Amino acid sequence: MTGGIAAYKSVHLARLLGEAGAEVQTVLTAAATRFVGADTFSGLTGFPAHVSLWEQPGEVLHVRMAHEADMAIVAPATANIIAKLAHGIADDLLTATLLEARCPILIAPAMHTGMWEHPATRGNVSILASRDVRFVGPESGSLAHGDEGVGRLAEPEAIFAAATELAGGRRDLEGRRILITAGPTHEPIDPVRFLGNRSSGKMGVALATEAAARGADVIFVLGPGTVSPPPGVQTVNVTTAQEMRDAVLETFPEADAVIMAAAVADFRPKKVTPGKIKKEDGMPELILEPTPDILSELGRTRTRQLLVGFAAETTGVEEAGREKLRRKGLDLVVANLVGQGGTGFGSDTNEAAILSADGEDEPLRPWTKRDLAQAVLDRVAALFEIR
Ligand code: CTP
Repeated sequence: MTGGIAAYKSVHLARLLGEAGAEVQTVLTAAATRFVGADTFSGLTGFPAHVSLWEQPGEVLHVRMAHEADMAIVAPATANIIAKLAHGIADDLLTATLLEARCPILIAPAMHTGMWEHPATRGNVSILASRDVRFVGPESGSLAHGDEGVGRLAEPEAIFAAATELAGGRRDLEGRRILITAGPTHEPIDPVRFLGNRSSGKMGVALATEAAARGADVIFVLGPGTVSPPPGVQTVNVTTAQEMRDAVLETFPEADAVIMAAAVADFRPKKVTPGKIKKEDGMPELILEPTPDILSELGRTRTRQLLVGFAAETTGVEEAGREKLRRKGLDLVVANLVGQGGTGFGSDTNEAAILSADGEDEPLRPWTKRDLAQAVLDRVAALFEIR
């Protein structure tokens, strides 16, 4: 990070990279620290953010970081750093690290239009481009001091997409709109109580993060809970099964695929008591009714959309999953084991099978939620291709 008013956007970029599973190590020039604090990045990334060549006695910091890095991203990059990199100047930690590094380098310039268009900068950009350094942006728009023009830092999502591409990451879901649901639903009993379940929403977050990284336009419908939606993903927060149904149905016509990772409540109290139920009124009796089955409705009304369901089971996982695949008219079902420690609801891992209408199944085995999300989206991308 170099010194520019756009440095605040790099906070969001660091989050996007971290959410996608990257280990993000931050180097700030002295000028950058005038705009953002090193501590912000240490806190966000879990790695110390560095500013000076001399801060770790006994360690050659720039050499270690250069050798560890799989990619270097300079965002924002001033005209000054572009000039220094073009000419091999290494007079601080950032320039020394980049001169030692042999990993791919991505530069996101941010400066005033005059500086960007100056023949000196044009020449420096050409030198770097001829060495296979990649550029993303700058974009046109409002600049510091109320000016307008070319020179604005690319949006964090665009820098992230360019980094994914440079890392050899697939963009096989580009142009596809994928609706993903996650988390539990809460069905009210009275104003303070509800029926719920133990779903955390982590599986849905893993799917939404991965789908967005692969270029999909993700709409994320999230039930109540503690997980944060992935940054940069359009999110609709809902509480009940009915609200989730309405949110899903609204965007369904424009969706190319729907992945129902949410643990939608199957039953809800038939009557919501308007005031808090009091102990002195005796033991209440809850009469339940079914909630709308969102996925079955989608299965009946779909036109071209791919449908992926989840089946949370405590026994007979694969058989029950296959039965749901048929009954709900789905393309894929992720059948997972729940109700045991260390797998399923709330954990970072899942014991799951991927069952497919075309008979290409992945048997029940343990996965990290991230790997499972990747495997599900591999299947979705392959199904898009053959349709
Ligand atoms: N689902 C849904 N709407 C509901 C209940 C579930 O869309 N009201 C979706 C879930 O998001 C999941 C799939 O259906 O993708 C499977 O849900 P599950 O509750 O396990 O299946 P059911 O068909 O309700 O079967 P059962 O409860 O008998 O296991």
